This record gives sequence, C-alpha cells and structure tokens, in this order.
Amino acid sequence: MHLELFGSVKQVKVEPYIPQTLPINMQGWNWQRLALSIGRANRALAYYDGILKTMINPTLLLSPLETREAVLSSKIEGTVTTVDEVLRYEANMKPESALKKADIQEVLNYRSAMRGSREWLDRELPFNLNMMYAIQAALMEGVRGANKQPGCVRKEQNWIGPVGCKIEQATYIPPEPLSLDIHLRNLVDYVNLQDEEPIIQCACYHAQFELIHPFLDGNGRTGRILIPLFLWQKGIIQAPAFYISEYLEAHREVYYQRLNQISEQNDWESWVSFFLEAVAIQAGENVRKAEDVLALYQSMKERIAAISQSPKVIKILDTLFVTPIFEASSFMKLCGLTRSTTNRIMIRLKEEGILMTLQEASGRTPETLAFQALMDLL
Ligand SMILES: Nc1ncnc2c1ncn2[C@@H]1O[C@H](COP(=O)(O)OP(=O)(O)OP(=O)(O)O)[C@@H](O)[C@H]1O
Ligand SMILES: [Mg+2]
Repeated sequence: MHLELFGSVKQVKVEPYIPQTLPINMQGWNWQRLALSIGRANRALAYYDGILKTMINPTLLLSPLETREAVLSSKIEGTVTTVDEVLRYEANMKPESALKKADIQEVLNYRSAMRGSREWLDRELPFNLNMMYAIQAALMEGVRGANKQPGCVRKEQNWIGPVGCKIEQATYIPPEPLSLDIHLRNLVDYVNLQDEEPIIQCACYHAQFELIHPFLDGNGRTGRILIPLFLWQKGIIQAPAFYISEYLEAHREVYYQRLNQISEQNDWESWVSFFLEAVAIQAGENVRKAEDVLALYQSMKERIAAISQSPKVIKILDTLFVTPIFEASSFMKLCGLTRSTTNRIMIRLKEEGILMTLQEASGRTPETLAFQALMDLL
C-alpha cells in the first residue's frame, strides 16, 4: 500500500504483526545490568509480601486499594473518575452526569473482574484461556464495548493508533484473527512453565498478551488484571493483591512505546527493563499504602472497641474498611446490628470525628456517611 505525502511516495506497512513463540531468545542481553533490576524488583516484592503475610485477610483489608487500582487501570483507557466518586456511587449517591456514571460502571466492572478471577483461582481452576475470556467479558458487561463480542477472541483485524485512525496510520497492527488460537495456546503453555524467572516471565507474558491483542476491546485492562494473578499463582505474593497501574498510568507513553519497540525492533530487553522498574517502584508504593491501611486498622480496632462496646467490633471495623462510604441502613444490615445499636454507634463515631456526614437524610433518602481517615489515605 502506498500513501501520497507531499508529492513523495511513502511506503506504509499494513502487515499484521506475527508474534514470536515464547519463551523468547534472551541471548545477548545485558545481564549484568538486568541482574541488578531483577534483584531490586524481587527484594521489593518480598518486602511487600512480608506485609501481606502479617494481614489476617489481606484481600478484605486492601479492598480500598483494589478500588484505587481499578480506577487507575481504567484511567489508562481514558475513563475519568475517582475512588471517591466510585464509592459514593456504590452508596447510592447520584453521579453528576450520565457520562460519569458510565465511567464509574467501567471501574466497578474492573473490580468485579478482579474479584471473579480471584475466585476462579481460589477454586483451583487452571490459569487458562477461559479465565482470560471471563475477565474480559466481566469488563465489558453493559458498558461501551459491550457490543464487541465480549468474552470472545476477535474474528476481525484490529489496530492501535490515534482515535478513529485508518489502518494505514496505525502504530501497531496485532496478528491476524486466524492465527490467534495458536499464539494464545503458546501463551498459556508459557505461563505454566516452571523453570523461568517469574518476574521476567510476567513481563514477557503481559507484553505478549498485549501484542496478541486477542479481543476487540479491553486488552489493556485484562492484561493488567492478569499481572497480580500471575504473581500469586507463582507463589511470589501471598494474596492476589499487587497494584501496578499507578506506575503504568504515570508512564503511559513509555509503556506504549516499549511495547511498540517489541514489534518494531524486536526489542524485548527494553520492555523487560521497564517492567522490572515498574514492579520495583510499585512494590515500594504498595508497601507504603498497605502499611498505612494496616496502621489505621490497628488504631481503629481499639478506638471502635471502646466506642461501640459491641461484640461485633471486628465486623464493624471490616465493614468500614470494605465500604468506607455507606448509607446508615446498609451499614446496619452489613454488620447485623439493630437499629438502636447502629444509631448509638453512628452518633459516637461522628462525635469522635471517625465518621463524617456526606449527605444528610431527607425524606426517604437515608444519611450517607464516610470513614474519612481511610478516604484520606486513598
Ligand atoms: N504498540 C503497542 N503494541 C502492543 N500493545 C499495545 C501497544 N500500545 C498499547 N498497547 C496495549 O494495548 C492496550 C489498549 O488496548 P485496548 O483498547 O483493547 O484495551 P483497553 O483495556 O480497552 O484499553 P486500555 O489498555 O487503554 O485501558 C494498552 O493499554 C496497552 O496495554
Ligand atoms: Mg479500549
């Protein structure tokens, strides 16, 4: 195909990319430099894992961070919303516009996709293609892209580039549909290899998933959900709670560029280097956030025990951490408390400055409250 450009004729490549078979050949890489990065990433992950080990129920305790991850990963795709808006919406507060509501729904889908995949692996189902299809289908449930064959491998050629661009202007053209099956099988075989360095394996796995681009939409998000699941599956972390999207969102251009270098220059090494850096930095960030959440939990445990004088103190505490914005009535149900006990506890928690009223009760609309210290952490 030729494209006329100011009188000159420019050759435009519109050939779909043909992925390499994994594992890739890593001969000739600068292992002296990479060894430092691998060591750094693994040490940071091990330190983070030590914190996960101290938590009785890390997925419960870190559920606010999970919502944050869902917001940030979806932001890479262009959704504009915040943790605060998502949690307010869950507490039945109205979003400011229909557009905002759609973005919030994408984030909620992201979180259910994460939770669903965790349950999948909890049930000891294999880390396989069906799991990936289920993740992508959960992401697409009732939002834009829902008409794009959710949960199914694409049957059409797609491409990546500026919004609405023609294939000739694409920055990347993923493999042709008929070849997807073979590349996806190779990908799953690769994931299940036991004698690879897991962080490098994770880097190659994520990139290859993006290069294959098996779906019409949601490839980025599905690929990012798979990262903590992979680390958990390999026994690197105790719980599937590792949040990488903050780094990828902050370095989105480089993230895309490094992926592009693989298809354009066969430069896997730069991608792996970038990914190792992302893991090391985010492990550090995750440590800070998890420590803050844990410290808040410990301090609240004593205060709430004293305030509530209730045998259900742990239930109350856990509910506040999982649902930091809530309606008083749903709090009562979630904790299994009576109305009078709930009212008594709410009044005391507000007096102590632990809870803040976000919206006063009016007519049939109940009061909405926020656990402010946790919201501040997010
Ligand atoms: N040059 C490239 N080669 C391969 N993959 C790429 C390239 N540039 C970006 N990507 C990946 O493709 C994703 C976008 O694909 P898609 O729109 O299907 O996913 P999404 O989940 O809807 O969006 P997003 O990833 O932007 O959130 C990017 O997030 C990134 O992971
Ligand atoms: Mg998209």
